[in-house]
Amino acid sequence: MIVTVQQHIMFEQRRRHPEARGRFSWLLSGLTLAAKMIEAKIRRAGINDALGSAGETNVQGETQQKLDVYANQALLHCLGVRDSVAALVSEENEEPLVFDPAPETGEYIIVFDPLDGSSNIDVNVNVGTIFSILRRPPGPVTNAILQPGHQQIAAGYILYGPSTVLVYTTGDGVFGFTLDPAIGAFVLSHNHIQLPHQGNLYSVNEAYADTFPPAYSQHFATLRSKGYSSRYIGSLVADFHRTLLKGGIFFYPPTHAYPGGKLRLLYEANPLAFIAEQAGGRATNTNSRILDIPPTDIHQRTPLIIGSLSDVTAFSC
Ligand code: AHG
Ligand code: MN
Ligand code: MN
Repeated sequence: MIVTVQQHIMFEQRRRHPEARGRFSWLLSGLTLAAKMIEAKIRRAGINDALGSAGETNVQGETQQKLDVYANQALLHCLGVRDSVAALVSEENEEPLVFDPAPETGEYIIVFDPLDGSSNIDVNVNVGTIFSILRRPPGPVTNAILQPGHQQIAAGYILYGPSTVLVYTTGDGVFGFTLDPAIGAFVLSHNHIQLPHQGNLYSVNEAYADTFPPAYSQHFATLRSKGYSSRYIGSLVADFHRTLLKGGIFFYPPTHAYPGGKLRLLYEANPLAFIAEQAGGRATNTNSRILDIPPTDIHQRTPLIIGSLSDVTAFSC
C-alpha cells in the first residue's frame, strides 16, 4: 500500500509528538503544493515562456531567472496563508517576510532557496528547492531567525529531474518521496536513507582550482590516486542528492570570487547538513561543523564540504 508524504508526517508526529495538533503537516502540505506548482511550470518551461532571465538582479547580485521568480512567488503564496508561519526567509528576498500571528499560533519560521541551480534551468538540467524549518521562540520574531543549524526542526529539498523527488528529515531519519503524476502525490520511495560511509566520487568545480587554498587540490590529487571519479552538475541539490545516495564528497571551497564560500548558510548548507548528518554523513565549513555555525546574516555564505563520514573526516585544511 502506498504511503504519501502527508501520511508519513502524520505517522511520525503521532509516534514522536502525540500532543501535536497536525499544524506541522498542514505546513508541509503548503510546501508540497508549491513544489507541484513549480514542477508543473518546469515540466513545460520551453513552451510556456518560463525560460530565461526575468531581467532583475536579486540581493545576491545575480540575474534572476523567470523560474526563480515564479518558484519564489509560489512558495510565498502557499506558505504565507498558513497561520502557523511567523516568518518566511527567501534567497530571493532581501528582508524576511514577517507575519505577525500571535506567538502561540505563529510557531514556525521557514527559510528557503526557491530554485537552486538556476544556471541549469535553460539547458534542462536538474534544479531544486531547498527548505529549512525553525521553531519561533518567544519574543520578536525578527530576532529569532538567526538560529544555528542544529536548532532546525525539519529540513528538506525537492529535486526536479527525470522524476521529482522530495527528501526530508524531522530529526529521526531521512526519507524520500517520488511524485506520482498519476495521483498528484509524493509517495514514499526511499525509506530511511543512509549516506554510505565512504564513496568513490568527488564533486567540485575544478575550474576555480587555482584560487582554492592549496590543500584542496592536493587532496583532489590524492583522491584521484585512490581511483575516485569526478561528477559536477552545478546544481547543489542534484550534486548533494547523488552524494546522499551513492556516497562521496562535495566541495564548494573558498575562491577569489567568494573568499567566504559561495553557498548560503541558512538555506543551502544548513538544511543539507541536517539531512547529511541524519543519514550518517557529515558537513563542515573546512574546520567546523556546519550546524554549529552561529549565523550573523540571513544571506551569509560559507564554504561547504559535505558527504560520507569517512571522506569528509579524511579532509582537513
Ligand atoms: P542558486 O541557483 O540558488 O543561486 O544556487 C547555485 C549554486 C548551487 O546550486 C551550485 O552548487 C553552485 O551555485 C554552482 O556554482 P558554480 O557555478 O560557481 O560552480
Ligand atoms: Mn542555491
Ligand atoms: Mn536559488
